[in-house]
Formats: sequence, C-alpha cells, structure tokens
Amino acid sequence: MISTPDFTFTVAASCTKCSACSHVCPSSIIAMTADGPTLPNAKICIKCGHCVAICPVAALDFSWTPLKNQTNIEKPLSITAEEAEQFLRSRRSIRSYRKLEVPTDKLEKILDIAHYAPTGGNSQSISYVVIKSSETIKALSNFTLEWIDALAKTNASFRQYANLSKISKGTGSDMIFRGAPAAIVAVGPRKLPMARDNARFNLAYAELFAPTLGLGTCWAGFFEMSTSEYNKEVYDILGLTEEQMVVGALMVGYPKYHYKRLVDRNPLKFTLL
Ligand SMILES: Cc1cc2nc3c(=O)[nH]c(=O)nc-3n(C[C@H](O)[C@H](O)[C@H](O)COP(=O)(O)O)c2cc1C
Repeated sequence: MISTPDFTFTVAASCTKCSACSHVCPSSIIAMTADGPTLPNAKICIKCGHCVAICPVAALDFSWTPLKNQTNIEKPLSITAEEAEQFLRSRRSIRSYRKLEVPTDKLEKILDIAHYAPTGGNSQSISYVVIKSSETIKALSNFTLEWIDALAKTNASFRQYANLSKISKGTGSDMIFRGAPAAIVAVGPRKLPMARDNARFNLAYAELFAPTLGLGTCWAGFFEMSTSEYNKEVYDILGLTEEQMVVGALMVGYPKYHYKRLVDRNPLKFTLL
C-alpha cells in the first residue's frame, strides 16, 4: 500500500501480477515489481480509473478512482453489428417537438450518460445549464437572431442566414430552438482549448442516448456560435462567468414525427495506405 496525504494506492494479496494495470495505464506510471504494482510517480496520473477497472481479481484500489465506485460488468453487452448500425443511423436531428414538458430527471439521466464521454487528458471539464423555461429559451433565441442579423450585414457568408430572423419574426416560429421545450447548454473553461471538442463528444453521447428515453435532440449551432464570445447580458441569463464559455448546445423534446427510413449520406471517402 502507498499512502500519501493526496491518495492511497492499495494492492490486495489476491493480485496475480498479470501486469494488466501497468499495460493499460495511459501515463505509464504503474510499475510492476516482484511484489506487485507500485506507483512511483503519481503526479501525472490523469485519474482515469483504468487500473482499477481492468484488474481481473479486483485486487487494486486507488482512492482517486475507488474500487467501490466502479460498476461491475456482470454480463458483457451483446449487440450485433446490424443492431449497432441501426441504432447509430437512426439518430436524426429533431426540429418538430410535441408540446410536452420534458421531466427533469430524464434530462439529468441524459447528461449523466453524456458525462461518461471521453475528454482530453480526462479533464472532465464540461458542465451543463439545463433550460426548461420557455421565456428563457425565447430570450436566448432573440439574442441569437439579433447576433445573426448584425453579422449578416458585415459577413457575406452569413447573409443567407438573415432569413432565419425574418422567418422567426414573420411566422413566430423559433428558428433557433425550434419550439423545443428544453435546451441543454454545455459549458467549459474559456482557457481550456479542448473544451469545445470535449463538449462535442459529451453531446454526441447525449444525442444517441436521448431516443432511448423517447426524446429527440438537435444541435443548436447558431446559439452556440452567438454565445461563444462573452456577453454579459446572455451570460447573466445563463448564470455564467467570463471565465466560462458556451461550447455546445442541444434542443431537447419529444419528437412529433418518427423517421421510417435510415438516411443516405454522400458516398464514403476512404483511402487505404
Ligand atoms: C455542430 C453542429 C451544429 C448544428 N447546428 C444546427 C442548428 O443551429 N440548427 C439546426 O436546425 N441544426 C443544426 N445542426 C444539425 C445538422 O443540420 C444535422 O446534423 C445535419 O443536417 C444531418 O442531419 P441529421 O442530424 O438528422 O442526421 C447542427 C449540427 C452540428 C453537428
């Protein structure tokens, strides 16, 4: 056992010295000795829990990722390639929602799953603001439409999007959050370059998991773009500080329609070297 003020690293007598913990450690900081694994340099540990999760006899415990917090995989999930393909390809962006409240516990469950997505250096740097208030969604939508309007005047590639504002104002239908009853805003530290990448993986997990709860999602990319720069008005609405940054957003709700066919895409581009 290694015990320091920061952590405790324990190896039980049942350790078979198979070296799996040492081999899977991303920082290569677990050394296998005649007495079992040791941790000579814990400073660069990224606290990913691989060492604890891989041990075939549950001999290793590490206070940064305690054994008791890891879930045993009792029965490996059996899913065919066809099932996986249908599941993944069935995810579609949903832009028509039923006027039905999304229970908070379902949103929390989606985000709980999302937060198991990989993050650079295991930084786990994404937090979320969940919005169910229609007034708040409307205020955020209006902010984004004004941002698009202003940009369309100066940026030629944005001119086409001036229509979004016109349609929203003309028809009263929200072209930013599409009438979704809920929105998820992913937030990361402004100074962390990988925060946006991390958010993409987290929200991809959210998009794939949401249909299992009967929910549909769509990226709110315009909202994300309009709120990446710090703006006091909108950051105050979201309860965020200048050190934080909006790095992704999804609209969420019960789909009004259900797709009957899997979509085609452009031909796959594939190079073998
Ligand atoms: C980063 C990103 C931003 C997006 N932003 C928007 C958006 O602002 N509004 C919207 O209606 N769809 C948005 N989408 C959805 C795409 O239009 C959609 O993923 C694409 O057309 C493929 O359709 P599918 O998601 O149904 O497969 C966005 C998607 C991504 C990945």
